[in-house]
Amino acid sequence: MVSPIVEAPAPTVSSTPGLLPPSRSQVSVRGVGKRFAARKGAAVVALEQVSLDILPGAFVSVVGPSGCGKSTLLLAIAGLERPTSGSIVVEGEEVKGPFPRMGIAFQRDSLLEWRTVLDNVLLQADLRGRSRSGYIERGRALLQMVGLEAFASHYPHELSGGMRQRVALCRALLHEPTLLLLDEPFGAVDALTREQLNVDVSGICEVSNVTTMLVTHDINEAVFMADAVVVMTSRPGTVAGIVEVDAPKPRTHGFRSDPAFLRAATAVRELLEATGGFRR
Ligand SMILES: Nc1ncnc2c1ncn2[C@@H]1O[C@H](COP(=O)(O)OP(=O)(O)OP(=O)(O)O)[C@@H](O)[C@H]1O
Ligand SMILES: [Mg+2]
Repeated sequence: MVSPIVEAPAPTVSSTPGLLPPSRSQVSVRGVGKRFAARKGAAVVALEQVSLDILPGAFVSVVGPSGCGKSTLLLAIAGLERPTSGSIVVEGEEVKGPFPRMGIAFQRDSLLEWRTVLDNVLLQADLRGRSRSGYIERGRALLQMVGLEAFASHYPHELSGGMRQRVALCRALLHEPTLLLLDEPFGAVDALTREQLNVDVSGICEVSNVTTMLVTHDINEAVFMADAVVVMTSRPGTVAGIVEVDAPKPRTHGFRSDPAFLRAATAVRELLEATGGFRR
């Protein structure tokens, strides 16, 4: 079986725009580092020499200790944060800013309080200058898929935290992105809804064949949804290792008791333990 994700070696040549080597990867991260200058005190090195390849259609989870640079990595791939070193190539083009084929849901849902649920989802079309009439049906279908069709005309303050996150997810998917970047989208969701959303989102991603990168703190969630789990070290974050989850998708609830699930979850836990991911 071809690995859905391969850890890549550190770059040996500088990444000159236009001269990047051709690659089968949809996302290619090469030797990425990120250093945040501090207003006071020492600078923070969030990422160091992060290299990864993600093949088209793969679902990749990223786990690692709090503050190890997971969100920074995701934002860098999204073109919302510039790496201080290394390069990121998505679909053959070096990332220099946000690009239209990407969908993103942030750690905080960032819904607009003055827009209804449906209008929040349609924000994607508005921002891209597209006619919203062509998207209303898809917006409603996405809301139905996450069980929120009855709330299309409600305002965000009338929703629970979990419902808000589901709206943010629909918004990220509206324009049928080829790359979906999710930063702890289920953090505010209760445990039962979260397990259901894991199944639902796994199905949505599989059906739409979107390449997905999910940042999460939850080892079980990471394994449940992914073809491969990238385990990061504590800061400065780098790739500690990759655990493949060799099981068919989309996943159903029963997968949680499957030997392949348990094996992968144990491997992720052991890797975190071995690389200082847990405090002693
Ligand atoms: N805009 C910023 N300016 C300065 N420092 C930042 C900025 N964004 C992140 N950092 C720092 O970079 C490090 C990594 O942050 P990041 O948010 O990527 O971590 P994370 O792995 O997503 O953590 P968590 O799991 O808690 O969400 C942290 O030390 C953080 O303080
Ligand atoms: Mg984060």
